[in-house]
Amino acid sequence: MTELVVVNGLTVRYGTVIASHLSSLVIHSGECVAIVGESGSGKTSALMGILGLGEVSGAEVSGSVRVGGVELIGASERKLASIHGAELTLVSQSPQAALNPTMRLGRFAQLALARHGITRASARARIEAALADVVLPPSILRRYPHEISGGQAQRFCIGLAVALETKCIIADEPTSALDVTVQAEIIRLLRRLREDGGKGILFVSHDLALVAATADRIIVMKDGAVVEDGLRDQVLFHPQSDYTKELLAAIPEWNTHE
Ligand SMILES: Nc1ncnc2c1ncn2[C@@H]1O[C@H](COP(=O)(O)OP(=O)(O)O)[C@@H](O)[C@H]1O
Ligand SMILES: [Mg+2]
Repeated sequence: MTELVVVNGLTVRYGTVIASHLSSLVIHSGECVAIVGESGSGKTSALMGILGLGEVSGAEVSGSVRVGGVELIGASERKLASIHGAELTLVSQSPQAALNPTMRLGRFAQLALARHGITRASARARIEAALADVVLPPSILRRYPHEISGGQAQRFCIGLAVALETKCIIADEPTSALDVTVQAEIIRLLRRLREDGGKGILFVSHDLALVAATADRIIVMKDGAVVEDGLRDQVLFHPQSDYTKELLAAIPEWNTHE
C-alpha cells in the first residue's frame, strides 16, 4: 500500500493552547483512518494542520506533513493549491459553504477541474462519471448551491474529489448535519471509494459507533492529545486508555454485542 500522507510531530497551537498534537500518522491508499473525540478535542485543528492550512485559521503550526514527497508545512499557497484537489481533498463540515452561492454547480466543477489543468472537453465526461459514482443526476449541474440539500452538497463535494482523481479524501464530521439515512449513504459511499477506488480516507467524528463501523485504524483524541491509536479491533476490543473505555461504555449497542 502506498503511503499517501505522512505526518510527524504535528502541533497546532492557538497562542499558548495546544489545540492538537499528532506524533505520527500515516494514511495509506485503500485505508480509512478515523480520528474520534469530543467537541473541542482538536479534531478540526488536526485536519487543518494536515492540509497545511493551520496558519490560515490563525494557528501556529510545527512539525511535518509530507504528501507525495512534498512538505506541506510552510509550503507556499501555490504549492498547496496544486496539492489540494489532486492529492488531498477536504470535504468540509458545511459543504454548502465550500461551494460558490452565485455559481451553478456545473460551472463550479468545471473551474475546479480547470485549475488542475483538465480541459473543458474531458472535464465534462469526468464530472458526469463522478456524479454517477456519488449517485447524483447530471441535472444537478444546473442547480445553485441553495437549491440542493446538505446531503447532496456533501455528495457533490465528494464527487468533485472523484472527478479530480484525488488520492486522499479528508472529511470533517462528514455526517453531522445529515439525517441517519443520508448519513448511512455517505458512509457507504466513502467505504466504496476506499475499496473500489483505492482512495485513502481520513475522517473525524465525535461518534465512536460510526467510526467503529467504518474505520480500519482509530485515533482517539482528548484535549488536543492522542490517547489511543491502533487498528480498529485492537482499539475496540483491547482499549488501552480509560477514556476509550468510557467512550465504548457509552455506546448502548456495543455493550449488548459483547
Ligand atoms: N481559530 C481558533 N482560535 C483560537 N482557538 C481555537 C481556534 N479554533 C479552535 N480553537 C481551540 O482549539 C481547541 C480544539 O478545537 P477544534 O480543533 O475545533 O476541536 P474539535 O474539532 O474536536 O471540536 C479548542 O480548545 C478550541 O477552542
Ligand atoms: Mg471540529
